[in-house]
Amino acid sequence: MRNPIIGGNWKMNKGTPSEAIKMLKELIPLVEKMKSVDIVIAPPFTALFSTIQTVKNSNIMVGAQNMYYEEKGAFTGEVSPIFLNDLGCEYVILGHSERRDIFNESDDLINKKLKTALKSDLKPIVCIGEHLEEREAGRTKEVIENQFNLTFKDLKSEELSRVIIAYEPIWAIGTGKTATPEQAEEIHIFIRELITKIYGKNTAQTIRIQYGGSIKPTNAKEIFDKENIDGGLVGGASLQSKSLYEIIKAAEESIN
Ligand code: PGA
Repeated sequence: MRNPIIGGNWKMNKGTPSEAIKMLKELIPLVEKMKSVDIVIAPPFTALFSTIQTVKNSNIMVGAQNMYYEEKGAFTGEVSPIFLNDLGCEYVILGHSERRDIFNESDDLINKKLKTALKSDLKPIVCIGEHLEEREAGRTKEVIENQFNLTFKDLKSEELSRVIIAYEPIWAIGTGKTATPEQAEEIHIFIRELITKIYGKNTAQTIRIQYGGSIKPTNAKEIFDKENIDGGLVGGASLQSKSLYEIIKAAEESIN
């Protein structure tokens, strides 16, 4: 059985320690009994340390939103996986569509980051997803297959099993437009088929695949109820403790 995982991707919000701490102090008591869902909060780098301190002794884990693929050196402005690990950060989001589209991150770069993240014992949440034009042109599966092959290139089965995949159709991110549960499920099944082809059925069945893109308390349950959807990566709705709590509750209820 795959436990659902809910990631709160705060993007470039709540980056001041005081804002992060305030929100976490509201969230911790709301979710403390929810033991079947993995909860990961990914604040901006500037709030990572205070987030890690605040969630200590709670069931909330912490992720970074990005990292570089080298461990140290002359890379002004970049953050190493070693630093993140030492800080107490367990997860890292890689290949988010905002990194790909705004900051021109390629599949090849994400593949390099993924390999170093795994080497540093971080748990990567790796995003893949198609643009609206690609979906409208009927190319969704082709795009996903291509991203999958390049992003996960040369990963061993043991390495891939430590990865969480987030299927995030780009047209659904921050737009209020959600994929229907059926549209999302279709691609989640397709991703499991891609994994099966290379890594076998066992690996494909154990890997968690989250959905991301305008998840809200009102649509979370029907999405998480789908068999191949193992929780979600939440942007906008993760910025308020109450809406994030309701989404986590929907994930918990989807198990029963
Ligand atoms: P959203 O963002 O929930 O605001 O659409 C999701 C994401 O970017 O991970």
